Amino acid sequence: MSSTISGPAAAALNSLTPSQLKFIQMLPKAELHAHLNGSIPISVLQELAQEFAHLSDSGLTSDAIEEGIAKLRNGVVLDEIHDFFNLFPAIYALTSNPSNLRRATRAVLEQFLDGENPQCAYLELRSTPRETPEMNRRQYVQAILDEVERYPPSKTNLIVSLDRKMTGDVLRECVEIAIGLKAEGKRVVGIDLCGDPTAGDMGVLEEHLSRARAAGLGITLHIAETPANTAAETIQLLSYTPDRLGHATFLNDEAKSIVLDKKMCIEICLTSNLLCKTVSSLDAHHIRYYLQNDHPIVICTDDTLPFRTSLVGEYALLLAASPLGLGLTQDEVKRVAEMGIGATFQSRLNPPDAVRGTGQARKVETKARGG
Ligand code: IMP
Ligand code: ZN
Repeated sequence: MSSTISGPAAAALNSLTPSQLKFIQMLPKAELHAHLNGSIPISVLQELAQEFAHLSDSGLTSDAIEEGIAKLRNGVVLDEIHDFFNLFPAIYALTSNPSNLRRATRAVLEQFLDGENPQCAYLELRSTPRETPEMNRRQYVQAILDEVERYPPSKTNLIVSLDRKMTGDVLRECVEIAIGLKAEGKRVVGIDLCGDPTAGDMGVLEEHLSRARAAGLGITLHIAETPANTAAETIQLLSYTPDRLGHATFLNDEAKSIVLDKKMCIEICLTSNLLCKTVSSLDAHHIRYYLQNDHPIVICTDDTLPFRTSLVGEYALLLAASPLGLGLTQDEVKRVAEMGIGATFQSRLNPPDAVRGTGQARKVETKARGG
Protein backbone atom coordinates (compact mmCIF):
# COMPACT_ATOMS: atom_id res chain seq x y z
CA MET A 1 0.00 0.00 0.00
CA SER A 2 1.98 3.00 -1.19
CA SER A 3 1.09 6.57 -0.41
CA THR A 4 1.81 9.82 -2.21
CA ILE A 5 4.90 11.55 -0.87
CA SER A 6 5.40 15.20 -1.70
CA GLY A 7 6.83 18.39 -0.23
CA PRO A 8 9.71 18.47 2.29
CA ALA A 9 9.85 14.69 2.85
CA ALA A 10 9.99 13.99 -0.90
CA ALA A 11 12.75 16.56 -1.40
CA ALA A 12 14.78 15.03 1.43
CA LEU A 13 14.22 11.49 0.16
CA ASN A 14 15.27 12.44 -3.38
CA SER A 15 18.53 13.91 -2.08
CA LEU A 16 19.66 10.67 -0.40
CA THR A 17 22.09 8.20 -1.95
CA PRO A 18 20.76 4.64 -2.50
CA SER A 19 22.79 3.40 0.47
CA GLN A 20 21.44 6.16 2.74
CA LEU A 21 17.90 5.25 1.70
CA LYS A 22 18.58 1.57 2.37
CA PHE A 23 19.97 2.50 5.79
CA ILE A 24 16.73 4.31 6.73
CA GLN A 25 14.52 1.58 5.33
CA MET A 26 16.34 -1.13 7.27
CA LEU A 27 16.45 0.80 10.55
CA PRO A 28 13.94 -0.61 13.09
CA LYS A 29 11.56 2.33 13.64
CA ALA A 30 8.53 2.91 15.84
CA GLU A 31 5.61 5.08 14.68
CA LEU A 32 3.91 6.30 17.84
CA HIS A 33 1.94 9.35 16.65
CA ALA A 34 -0.34 8.49 13.73
CA HIS A 35 -4.02 9.52 13.68
CA LEU A 36 -6.11 6.89 11.91
CA ASN A 37 -8.42 9.21 9.97
CA GLY A 38 -5.45 11.35 8.97
CA SER A 39 -3.47 8.37 7.67
CA ILE A 40 -5.84 6.70 5.19
CA PRO A 41 -4.19 6.14 1.77
CA ILE A 42 -5.80 8.49 -0.78
CA SER A 43 -6.60 5.55 -3.11
CA VAL A 44 -8.72 3.90 -0.41
CA LEU A 45 -10.46 7.18 0.40
CA GLN A 46 -11.28 7.61 -3.28
CA GLU A 47 -12.78 4.11 -3.43
CA LEU A 48 -14.92 4.86 -0.40
CA ALA A 49 -15.96 8.20 -1.93
CA GLN A 50 -17.05 6.52 -5.17
CA GLU A 51 -19.18 4.01 -3.27
CA PHE A 52 -20.62 6.86 -1.22
CA ALA A 53 -21.61 8.70 -4.40
CA HIS A 54 -23.45 5.60 -5.69
CA LEU A 55 -25.28 5.02 -2.45
CA SER A 56 -26.00 8.57 -1.43
CA ASP A 57 -29.25 10.24 -2.46
CA SER A 58 -27.83 13.59 -1.36
CA GLY A 59 -25.98 15.13 -4.32
CA LEU A 60 -24.87 18.03 -2.19
CA THR A 61 -23.13 15.88 0.40
CA SER A 62 -21.41 13.86 -2.31
CA ASP A 63 -20.17 17.07 -3.90
CA ALA A 64 -18.79 18.30 -0.61
CA ILE A 65 -17.00 15.00 -0.13
CA GLU A 66 -15.63 15.02 -3.66
CA GLU A 67 -14.32 18.52 -3.07
CA GLY A 68 -12.64 17.43 0.19
CA ILE A 69 -11.02 14.39 -1.46
CA ALA A 70 -9.83 16.47 -4.43
CA LYS A 71 -8.14 18.86 -2.02
CA LEU A 72 -6.35 16.00 -0.30
CA ARG A 73 -5.36 14.44 -3.64
CA ASN A 74 -3.88 17.64 -5.01
CA GLY A 75 -2.06 18.56 -1.81
CA VAL A 76 -3.38 20.96 0.77
CA VAL A 77 -1.88 24.35 1.43
CA LEU A 78 -2.54 25.44 4.99
CA ASP A 79 -2.28 29.06 6.00
CA GLU A 80 -2.47 28.09 9.64
CA ILE A 81 -3.28 25.10 11.80
CA HIS A 82 -7.06 25.68 11.92
CA ASP A 83 -7.30 25.13 8.15
CA PHE A 84 -6.11 21.63 8.87
CA PHE A 85 -9.10 20.64 11.02
CA ASN A 86 -11.53 21.60 8.23
CA LEU A 87 -10.21 18.66 6.20
CA PHE A 88 -11.74 16.02 8.46
CA PRO A 89 -15.55 16.27 7.87
CA ALA A 90 -15.19 14.80 4.35
CA ILE A 91 -13.05 11.95 5.66
CA TYR A 92 -15.40 11.31 8.58
CA ALA A 93 -18.40 11.00 6.24
CA LEU A 94 -16.60 8.05 4.62
CA THR A 95 -15.59 6.22 7.81
CA SER A 96 -18.89 6.48 9.64
CA ASN A 97 -19.94 2.82 9.55
CA PRO A 98 -18.07 -0.20 10.98
CA SER A 99 -17.39 -1.77 7.60
CA ASN A 100 -15.80 1.33 6.04
CA LEU A 101 -13.92 2.07 9.25
CA ARG A 102 -12.47 -1.44 9.19
CA ARG A 103 -11.45 -1.04 5.54
CA ALA A 104 -9.76 2.26 6.29
CA THR A 105 -8.02 0.81 9.36
CA ARG A 106 -6.80 -2.21 7.43
CA ALA A 107 -5.33 0.05 4.75
CA VAL A 108 -3.59 2.23 7.35
CA LEU A 109 -2.08 -0.81 9.07
CA GLU A 110 -0.91 -2.21 5.73
CA GLN A 111 0.59 1.15 4.80
CA PHE A 112 2.74 1.18 7.93
CA LEU A 113 3.45 -2.49 8.56
CA ASP A 114 3.28 -4.51 5.34
CA GLY A 115 5.13 -4.76 2.04
CA GLU A 116 8.71 -5.44 1.09
CA ASN A 117 10.10 -2.47 3.04
CA PRO A 118 7.65 -1.77 5.88
CA GLN A 119 7.60 1.83 7.08
CA CYS A 120 8.02 0.74 10.67
CA ALA A 121 8.67 -2.22 12.93
CA TYR A 122 5.99 -1.17 15.42
CA LEU A 123 2.94 1.12 15.26
CA GLU A 124 0.84 2.67 18.01
CA LEU A 125 -2.14 3.88 16.01
CA ARG A 126 -4.52 6.37 17.60
CA SER A 127 -8.13 7.33 16.95
CA THR A 128 -10.94 9.32 18.55
CA PRO A 129 -14.09 7.29 19.38
CA ARG A 130 -16.89 8.71 17.25
CA GLU A 131 -20.61 8.17 17.64
CA THR A 132 -22.46 7.98 14.31
CA PRO A 133 -25.96 6.83 13.29
CA GLU A 134 -24.39 3.45 12.51
CA MET A 135 -22.17 2.81 15.55
CA ASN A 136 -21.65 3.90 19.10
CA ARG A 137 -18.24 4.82 20.51
CA ARG A 138 -17.51 1.38 21.87
CA GLN A 139 -18.39 -0.21 18.51
CA TYR A 140 -16.12 2.36 16.84
CA VAL A 141 -13.13 1.31 18.96
CA GLN A 142 -14.02 -2.38 18.62
CA ALA A 143 -14.10 -2.12 14.81
CA ILE A 144 -10.56 -0.69 14.82
CA LEU A 145 -9.34 -3.29 17.32
CA ASP A 146 -10.69 -6.09 15.13
CA GLU A 147 -8.18 -4.99 12.49
CA VAL A 148 -5.33 -4.13 14.89
CA GLU A 149 -5.60 -7.57 16.49
CA ARG A 150 -5.00 -9.34 13.20
CA TYR A 151 -1.36 -8.45 13.88
CA PRO A 152 0.66 -9.58 16.91
CA PRO A 153 1.03 -7.16 19.87
CA SER A 154 4.72 -6.79 19.06
CA LYS A 155 3.65 -5.06 15.80
CA THR A 156 0.77 -2.77 16.67
CA ASN A 157 -1.60 -1.59 19.40
CA LEU A 158 -4.21 1.14 19.82
CA ILE A 159 -4.27 4.46 21.64
CA VAL A 160 -7.72 5.95 22.32
CA SER A 161 -7.75 9.70 21.59
CA LEU A 162 -9.76 12.21 23.59
CA ASP A 163 -10.75 15.37 21.73
CA ARG A 164 -10.24 18.70 23.48
CA LYS A 165 -13.86 19.60 22.67
CA MET A 166 -15.36 16.57 24.45
CA THR A 167 -17.65 17.19 27.40
CA GLY A 168 -16.91 15.61 30.78
CA ASP A 169 -19.49 12.87 30.09
CA VAL A 170 -17.95 11.92 26.77
CA LEU A 171 -14.44 11.98 28.23
CA ARG A 172 -15.63 9.60 30.96
CA GLU A 173 -17.29 7.33 28.41
CA CYS A 174 -14.18 7.16 26.20
CA VAL A 175 -11.84 6.44 29.12
CA GLU A 176 -14.25 3.77 30.41
CA ILE A 177 -14.32 2.16 26.97
CA ALA A 178 -10.51 2.11 26.89
CA ILE A 179 -10.20 0.72 30.43
CA GLY A 180 -12.97 -1.84 29.88
CA LEU A 181 -11.49 -3.14 26.64
CA LYS A 182 -8.01 -3.34 28.16
CA ALA A 183 -9.44 -5.30 31.11
CA GLU A 184 -10.94 -7.75 28.57
CA GLY A 185 -7.46 -8.31 27.14
CA LYS A 186 -8.01 -6.09 24.10
CA ARG A 187 -5.06 -4.19 22.72
CA VAL A 188 -5.65 -0.65 23.99
CA VAL A 189 -2.35 0.61 25.42
CA GLY A 190 -2.85 4.33 25.95
CA ILE A 191 -4.88 7.53 25.97
CA ASP A 192 -4.14 10.62 23.84
CA LEU A 193 -5.42 14.18 23.96
CA CYS A 194 -5.80 15.83 20.56
CA GLY A 195 -8.06 18.09 18.49
CA ASP A 196 -8.21 21.83 17.89
CA PRO A 197 -5.33 23.07 20.09
CA THR A 198 -7.18 26.22 21.09
CA ALA A 199 -10.42 24.51 22.18
CA GLY A 200 -11.58 23.18 25.51
CA ASP A 201 -10.92 23.49 29.21
CA MET A 202 -8.05 21.25 30.26
CA GLY A 203 -9.06 21.29 33.95
CA VAL A 204 -11.73 18.64 33.32
CA LEU A 205 -9.14 16.12 32.19
CA GLU A 206 -7.41 15.34 35.46
CA GLU A 207 -9.82 12.76 36.92
CA HIS A 208 -10.12 10.94 33.59
CA LEU A 209 -6.38 10.74 33.01
CA SER A 210 -5.81 9.55 36.59
CA ARG A 211 -8.28 6.72 36.09
CA ALA A 212 -6.65 5.76 32.81
CA ARG A 213 -3.21 5.75 34.41
CA ALA A 214 -4.41 3.67 37.39
CA ALA A 215 -5.72 1.11 34.88
CA GLY A 216 -2.24 0.79 33.36
CA LEU A 217 -2.77 2.89 30.25
CA GLY A 218 0.02 5.14 28.96
CA ILE A 219 -0.73 8.85 28.56
CA THR A 220 0.29 11.08 25.67
CA LEU A 221 -0.93 14.66 25.27
CA HIS A 222 -0.76 17.08 22.34
CA ILE A 223 0.72 20.06 24.13
CA ALA A 224 1.89 23.62 23.36
CA GLU A 225 1.17 23.02 19.69
CA THR A 226 0.59 26.70 18.84
CA PRO A 227 1.71 30.06 20.25
CA ALA A 228 -1.90 30.53 21.44
CA ASN A 229 -1.50 27.71 23.97
CA THR A 230 -0.86 29.48 27.27
CA ALA A 231 2.00 28.71 29.62
CA ALA A 232 -0.58 28.05 32.37
CA GLU A 233 -2.34 25.43 30.24
CA THR A 234 0.96 23.76 29.40
CA ILE A 235 1.99 23.55 33.07
CA GLN A 236 -1.47 22.18 33.93
CA LEU A 237 -1.18 19.44 31.29
CA LEU A 238 2.35 18.58 32.47
CA SER A 239 1.02 18.23 36.04
CA TYR A 240 -0.98 15.22 34.80
CA THR A 241 2.45 13.51 34.37
CA PRO A 242 2.07 12.30 30.78
CA ASP A 243 4.55 9.68 29.53
CA ARG A 244 4.83 11.28 26.09
CA LEU A 245 4.04 14.66 24.53
CA GLY A 246 2.80 15.45 21.02
CA HIS A 247 4.66 18.37 19.38
CA ALA A 248 5.61 20.39 22.53
CA THR A 249 6.61 23.20 20.20
CA PHE A 250 6.09 26.25 22.40
CA LEU A 251 7.45 25.35 25.84
CA ASN A 252 8.80 28.06 28.13
CA ASP A 253 11.82 27.46 30.37
CA GLU A 254 9.74 26.21 33.29
CA ALA A 255 7.93 23.69 31.09
CA LYS A 256 11.19 22.61 29.45
CA SER A 257 12.78 21.89 32.80
CA ILE A 258 9.80 19.71 33.87
CA VAL A 259 9.90 17.82 30.56
CA LEU A 260 13.65 17.24 30.83
CA ASP A 261 13.49 16.28 34.49
CA LYS A 262 10.64 13.77 34.01
CA LYS A 263 12.16 12.51 30.73
CA MET A 264 8.81 12.82 28.93
CA CYS A 265 9.36 11.57 25.38
CA ILE A 266 8.56 14.13 22.68
CA GLU A 267 6.70 12.90 19.58
CA ILE A 268 8.28 14.94 16.77
CA CYS A 269 6.32 15.43 13.54
CA LEU A 270 8.58 17.51 11.27
CA THR A 271 6.47 17.79 8.09
CA SER A 272 3.29 18.36 10.08
CA ASN A 273 4.86 21.29 11.91
CA LEU A 274 6.27 22.79 8.70
CA LEU A 275 3.00 22.50 6.74
CA CYS A 276 0.85 23.77 9.62
CA LYS A 277 3.35 26.64 9.88
CA THR A 278 3.90 26.23 13.61
CA VAL A 279 7.63 25.94 12.83
CA SER A 280 9.20 28.17 10.18
CA SER A 281 12.04 25.89 9.03
CA LEU A 282 13.87 22.70 9.91
CA ASP A 283 16.67 24.84 11.19
CA ALA A 284 14.35 26.50 13.71
CA HIS A 285 12.70 23.22 14.78
CA HIS A 286 12.63 22.38 18.48
CA ILE A 287 13.99 18.89 17.69
CA ARG A 288 17.44 20.52 17.84
CA TYR A 289 16.93 21.45 21.48
CA TYR A 290 16.00 17.89 22.44
CA LEU A 291 18.88 16.41 20.44
CA GLN A 292 21.33 18.76 22.15
CA ASN A 293 19.98 17.65 25.53
CA ASP A 294 20.01 13.95 24.57
CA HIS A 295 16.34 13.92 25.53
CA PRO A 296 14.05 11.04 24.42
CA ILE A 297 12.21 11.76 21.16
CA VAL A 298 10.36 9.69 18.62
CA ILE A 299 9.98 10.63 14.94
CA CYS A 300 6.39 10.35 13.70
CA THR A 301 4.17 11.27 10.74
CA ASP A 302 1.03 12.64 12.51
CA ASP A 303 -1.22 12.49 9.39
CA THR A 304 0.31 10.95 6.26
CA LEU A 305 -2.76 11.78 4.14
CA PRO A 306 -2.88 15.60 4.26
CA PHE A 307 0.85 15.99 4.90
CA ARG A 308 1.76 13.58 2.08
CA THR A 309 4.61 12.04 4.01
CA SER A 310 5.74 8.65 5.29
CA LEU A 311 7.84 7.51 8.22
CA VAL A 312 10.79 6.83 5.90
CA GLY A 313 10.29 10.37 4.55
CA GLU A 314 10.42 11.81 8.07
CA TYR A 315 13.68 9.93 8.73
CA ALA A 316 15.01 11.27 5.43
CA LEU A 317 14.49 14.74 6.89
CA LEU A 318 16.89 13.78 9.70
CA LEU A 319 19.60 12.41 7.44
CA ALA A 320 19.47 14.72 4.41
CA ALA A 321 22.04 17.52 4.32
CA SER A 322 20.88 21.04 5.21
CA PRO A 323 18.76 22.83 4.01
CA LEU A 324 16.70 19.81 2.84
CA GLY A 325 17.27 17.99 6.13
CA LEU A 326 18.87 18.29 9.54
CA GLY A 327 22.12 16.69 8.37
CA LEU A 328 22.41 14.16 11.21
CA THR A 329 24.96 11.36 10.90
CA GLN A 330 23.78 7.78 10.45
CA ASP A 331 24.84 7.02 14.04
CA GLU A 332 22.73 9.92 15.29
CA VAL A 333 19.72 8.79 13.23
CA LYS A 334 20.15 5.26 14.58
CA ARG A 335 20.17 6.60 18.13
CA VAL A 336 16.96 8.56 17.44
CA ALA A 337 15.28 5.41 16.09
CA GLU A 338 16.36 3.47 19.20
CA MET A 339 14.85 6.16 21.43
CA GLY A 340 11.55 5.72 19.59
CA ILE A 341 11.58 1.97 20.05
CA GLY A 342 12.25 2.54 23.77
CA ALA A 343 9.27 4.91 24.14
CA THR A 344 6.41 2.61 23.16
CA PHE A 345 3.61 2.06 25.64
CA GLN A 346 3.83 -1.60 24.74
CA SER A 347 7.44 -1.86 25.99
CA ARG A 348 6.94 0.38 29.04
CA LEU A 349 3.62 -0.81 30.33
CA ASN A 350 3.15 -4.34 29.04
CA PRO A 351 5.35 -7.40 28.95
CA PRO A 352 7.05 -7.55 25.53
CA ASP A 353 5.45 -9.82 22.98
CA ALA A 354 2.74 -10.87 25.41
CA VAL A 355 -0.33 -12.29 23.74
CA ARG A 356 -3.09 -11.81 26.26
CA GLY A 357 -6.14 -14.01 25.89
CA THR A 358 -6.74 -16.94 23.63
CA GLY A 359 -9.20 -15.04 21.38
CA GLN A 360 -6.40 -12.67 20.49
CA ALA A 361 -3.95 -15.50 19.91
CA ARG A 362 -6.42 -17.04 17.46
CA LYS A 363 -6.70 -13.81 15.48
CA VAL A 364 -2.92 -13.54 15.24
CA GLU A 365 -2.76 -17.10 13.90
CA THR A 366 -5.41 -16.22 11.32
CA LYS A 367 -3.31 -13.31 10.07
CA ALA A 368 -0.20 -15.50 9.95
CA ARG A 369 -2.09 -17.91 7.72
CA GLY A 370 -3.02 -15.03 5.46
CA GLY A 371 -6.71 -15.08 6.54
P1 IMP B 1 -9.03 10.31 14.27
O1 IMP B 1 -8.82 10.53 15.74
O2 IMP B 1 -8.69 8.91 13.82
O3 IMP B 1 -10.43 10.69 13.85
O4 IMP B 1 -7.97 11.24 13.49
C1 IMP B 1 -8.23 12.56 13.09
C2 IMP B 1 -8.32 13.50 14.26
O5 IMP B 1 -7.06 13.56 14.92
C3 IMP B 1 -8.60 14.96 13.88
O6 IMP B 1 -9.97 15.22 13.76
C4 IMP B 1 -8.00 15.73 15.05
O7 IMP B 1 -8.89 15.78 16.13
C5 IMP B 1 -6.85 14.85 15.48
N1 IMP B 1 -5.55 15.36 14.96
C6 IMP B 1 -4.88 14.97 13.88
N2 IMP B 1 -3.72 15.65 13.76
C7 IMP B 1 -3.67 16.50 14.81
C8 IMP B 1 -2.72 17.46 15.26
O8 IMP B 1 -1.65 17.69 14.68
N3 IMP B 1 -3.06 18.17 16.38
C9 IMP B 1 -4.20 17.93 17.07
N4 IMP B 1 -5.08 17.02 16.70
C10 IMP B 1 -4.84 16.31 15.58
ZN1 ZN C 1 -1.23 14.74 16.17
